[in-house]
Amino acid sequence: MKILGIESSCDDTSVALIEANNDHFEILAEKTASQIDIHKVYGGVVPEIAGRKHAEAIVPLIEEVTRGEKPEVIAVTAGPGLVTGLLVGVEAAKNLSYLWDVPLVRVNHIEGHIYSVLLGSQSDRAPLHFPALCLIVSGGHTELVFMKDHGIYELVGKTRDDAAGECFDKVAKLLELDYPGGPKISKLGIEGDTGAISFPRPMIDSDNFEFSFAGLKTAALYWLRDNKLSAIDDFCASFEQAIVDVLVTKTIRAAKEYHPKTVILSGGVSANKKLRESLGENVNGLGVEFRTPELKYSMDNGAMIAVAGHYHALKQKFTSWRDIQVDPNWKIYN
Ligand code: KG4
Ligand code: ZN
Repeated sequence: MKILGIESSCDDTSVALIEANNDHFEILAEKTASQIDIHKVYGGVVPEIAGRKHAEAIVPLIEEVTRGEKPEVIAVTAGPGLVTGLLVGVEAAKNLSYLWDVPLVRVNHIEGHIYSVLLGSQSDRAPLHFPALCLIVSGGHTELVFMKDHGIYELVGKTRDDAAGECFDKVAKLLELDYPGGPKISKLGIEGDTGAISFPRPMIDSDNFEFSFAGLKTAALYWLRDNKLSAIDDFCASFEQAIVDVLVTKTIRAAKEYHPKTVILSGGVSANKKLRESLGENVNGLGVEFRTPELKYSMDNGAMIAVAGHYHALKQKFTSWRDIQVDPNWKIYN
């Protein structure tokens, strides 16, 4: 089955054409237009600018990826995300569905991140083994979700305030590092001492699976106000370790309670080396399979939307172009 995936929920316009064969996925073509250089100037994503840039990029990207070839299914991100971006992707998908007479599938962005572990060389390790415990960490989300089967999700815990990526980005801004700051903090911290500053580990011992990162951001702000920043590498390493410790401790505790066959780490922050390594070691220590996307697919991309769309298409879960709507707050669990 040939599926066209369209993603435009944040600051990347991304389109991919994949061939799905049972649980194996081959990428036939993919193109992404990143807006990071534009939003960098403002220190974060500006919704109005994002919408305009998606609108400029989307048709040429679809043209380049499809080269006139009609897919069998069109999968598009309908939420969660910025409404200005979602509308562009959904309108494009809707028009193509009508013009080509091709069925349309609505995909949740978070679900796309979960399915990103089936892309690239990892495709050889398909299918997913259920139940799976999924930690999705990005600029907008920090969620632990228990996935019982394709399309069946239960919320285990989420952040009460800032997302992990948002915390990285806000603290990076305090350090006057460019947006998105997560990768920059991580790079600066490579040689640093993780124990140099004792940042708080919010909610690490709470008897639930919720997260909170706003306090950590404030602790970083106060530390910078009250101390002279002489070693930025130590600061970054200590701060990064605090986030990694909370994410790993709570995910492992949830794994012990929920007994998944697989633990999945995905979303933009899954590109963090320390987090991948630490969670991977701890999960394998429990005798549980650990999966995380190839670095390239940890970021927002159209291919992961196509893969998630494939599983909906198998169940004939199509939406008519007449009815499709965006939902900026769409949740995959009840
Ligand atoms: O999933 P994504 O591309 O977009 C959203 O859906 O939000 O995630 C982007 C987030 C940003 O907050 C960025 O700082 C963070 O992922 N990020 C990282 C790293 N690479 C990207 N955070 C920590 N360490 C990294 N290496
Ligand atoms: Zn994302």
